[in-house]
Amino acid sequence: MAADAVKRIARISILAGRALTRTLVGLTRYGLTFSAAQSFQDSSMTSQLFSPFKLRSLALENRIVVSPMCQYSAENGSATDWHLMHLGSLSLSGAGLLFLEATAVEPAGRITPGCLGLYSDDNESALRRILDAVRRYSDMPLGIQLAHAGRKGSSLPPWAGGQLQTTEQGGWQTVAPSAVPTLPGEPAPAALDPAGIERIRGAFVTSARRAARLGFDALELHCAHGYLLHEFLSPLTNRRDDAYGGVLENRMRLPLEVFDAVRAAWPAQRPLGVRVSATDWVEGGWDLGQTVELARALKRRGCDWIDASSGGLSPQQKIPLAPGYQVPFARRIREEAGIPTIAVGLITDPRHAEEIVAKGEADLVALARGTLWDPRWSWHAAAALGGQVRAPKQYWRAPPREAKDVFRETEFGMR
Ligand SMILES: Cc1cc2nc3c(=O)[nH]c(=O)nc-3n(C[C@H](O)[C@H](O)[C@H](O)COP(=O)(O)O)c2cc1C
Repeated sequence: MAADAVKRIARISILAGRALTRTLVGLTRYGLTFSAAQSFQDSSMTSQLFSPFKLRSLALENRIVVSPMCQYSAENGSATDWHLMHLGSLSLSGAGLLFLEATAVEPAGRITPGCLGLYSDDNESALRRILDAVRRYSDMPLGIQLAHAGRKGSSLPPWAGGQLQTTEQGGWQTVAPSAVPTLPGEPAPAALDPAGIERIRGAFVTSARRAARLGFDALELHCAHGYLLHEFLSPLTNRRDDAYGGVLENRMRLPLEVFDAVRAAWPAQRPLGVRVSATDWVEGGWDLGQTVELARALKRRGCDWIDASSGGLSPQQKIPLAPGYQVPFARRIREEAGIPTIAVGLITDPRHAEEIVAKGEADLVALARGTLWDPRWSWHAAAALGGQVRAPKQYWRAPPREAKDVFRETEFGMR
């Protein structure tokens, strides 16, 4: 009986569109199941992936995040026309939030000579030019990831092999918590002394102030992938015997100090989150239990999200790659630290992304490679899941008939 009634409603909903979609969703709330209604398309359901989310005063239209992606295309840390093209394209992608790549807080904090920086007035004005152009056509929230490469600095870009460049080869002296090289035989990084630690904390603050001036909507601290702040966390790279090394509390000290200092410098209403490597994937390294402790400490300090990635610190890592392989980290951190999380890593299927949010495994889902492969991933996901995205008016005529409702607030007129 109930199934028949629902089928009838489903048929009418094809004609009446979104108003009746709400009716169907209402019925599901009362526990009715209706395979016929579901089978004609997912769009009869309310997508959780396309539901809004708030980070402090920042309202996101959906749960899709474009993950930070190094472009190795800056000059002396300053953004170039490549950034205009790259970010221009992704800012039309319909995602809820677009992160700029790991952005160095000092020249030695760049991974490669082509990495973006925000340590000079020139860097700031080059980025302002890009943001002005992007914002002229897109109101997508923009986040920036501030980073220091630590011992992974002074490298060639991946397309040139990624090797460490010595000072004789035109590279620079890298820094780290301890003088432990990444690969045996490589020149060791210089262990930071107290003045060096102080300088780096200050550099994060100065860059955060620049990011605030540029009007970024969100800021993420890069504590992942074997870069400097992760190197302080992991016992594999942190062999210090002062207040910044040894027990967990000491290894967390610099990341937490940087967080506090940046939080104080970053406008109170704007969100600040942290990307972590939830595990080193190496016995005796940084692991999920310690990550949960870090997340709890960050939450107490007003952290707005944890972006749960993994690995990148040790060449010994063994990563069991599979779709969504890092999602369990986002879930555990969210459950045990009670903080919003971003799930990331090999999430490419819209239904998978939908499920992650709907099951409460993470609040947001980030994609990196998937958005390079298909910069309109969010449009296509919206079409598949019955969500809607905002698109530039120049593209309003794009959707095929079966996805005709995918754009929000469109209007047409011709003479
Ligand atoms: C080209 C490229 C550049 C990346 N650069 C960064 C970066 O700047 N900061 C960062 O935290 N992660 C970086 N990552 C990692 C991604 O943000 C993401 O965590 C990872 O690729 C897994 O997501 P995916 O499977 O959707 O690609 C990069 C990944 C790629 C492919």
